[in-house]
Amino acid sequence: MYIHWDGSLETGHPLVDAEHRLLVLLFRKLDVAIKTRQSADALGHIVREVVRCVEFHFLSEENLMRETGYAGLEAHRSLHAELLLELNAYVDKIAHRREYPEDLLSFLSDWLSQHIAQHDRRVVQHVGTSPLRPIAELAYPEYLGAAPAPGTKRG
Ligand SMILES: [Fe+2]
Ligand SMILES: [Fe+2]
Repeated sequence: MYIHWDGSLETGHPLVDAEHRLLVLLFRKLDVAIKTRQSADALGHIVREVVRCVEFHFLSEENLMRETGYAGLEAHRSLHAELLLELNAYVDKIAHRREYPEDLLSFLSDWLSQHIAQHDRRVVQHVGTSPLRPIAELAYPEYLGAAPAPGTKRG
């Protein structure tokens, strides 16, 4: 089972939420591709799309932590690195038909919902109170349709 996007996954940070939403959309895409019996080749391409999006999101989130001086950056980065190792092991097994894409989907869905609840929420809480602001935060409303953060003016 893949996760659906719902309010419980929202952290309240516009960029983090937009990236998480895109990840869940790609999980959905993989789910539909499995259920409509797309070829192994087509599934492989979508799995690669998921992997790239996960890699991008991790880097983006780590930059957010760096820009705002988050003390737990290294520990959080290790969790991301562990997941990428497991993810790549899955991808390798799927390519050799020793694992089903369904299992990857279920693994990723569980991982993401638990990771958001236990770890990403802490980052977002920190960002909300840090005097250091994320680079280009003022552009969020323009590109993410989000309300400006309190006390900020658009330049
Ligand atoms: Fe994270
Ligand atoms: Fe995240």
